[in-house]
Amino acid sequence: MNDQVKTFIRVDHAGEYGAARIYAGQLAVLGRGKYGPQLEHMKAQEQVHLDAFAGMIVQRRVRPSALLPFWHVAGFALGAVTAALGPEAAMACTVAVEEVIDEHYSAQREALGEEEAALSTTVEQFRLEEREHRDIGLANGAEQAPGYRLLTGLIRAGCKAAIRLSEAV
Ligand SMILES: [Fe+2]
Ligand SMILES: [Fe+2]
Repeated sequence: MNDQVKTFIRVDHAGEYGAARIYAGQLAVLGRGKYGPQLEHMKAQEQVHLDAFAGMIVQRRVRPSALLPFWHVAGFALGAVTAALGPEAAMACTVAVEEVIDEHYSAQREALGEEEAALSTTVEQFRLEEREHRDIGLANGAEQAPGYRLLTGLIRAGCKAAIRLSEAV
């Protein structure tokens, strides 16, 4: 396995870890309201994604990101803060995050060769679920969030920085 594949597994594991924490943060604020079931649905899918990459970390002896303790706090904080701004802001957060992950997984698939067909299939399956999450966000008023463009722009930039950091560290 080449170093690029190890980097992919490290960053995907860190990203799915962060994603699960974002939804946990949103659920802490909005879980009892009408958005609870949708947030639970997305969190459950993130947990499946996380478990898959956690398995690869062990089986393929990939060093996990040293930043996991930071993503533990930052992911939850991002989810809870956007949820506190309102359900539309929480959904805007989902749209921003999932769009970046969609692009990230697309780029990985382009780079993965025949010898990593199983990983490529997994990434594609997860990518389609991330797009489903984005669509849930859009269907639940994301674009009505106050300052939608600014909010999603900031979150997109943060996610891209988190990806670059988790690839490196
Ligand atoms: Fe995910
Ligand atoms: Fe997702």
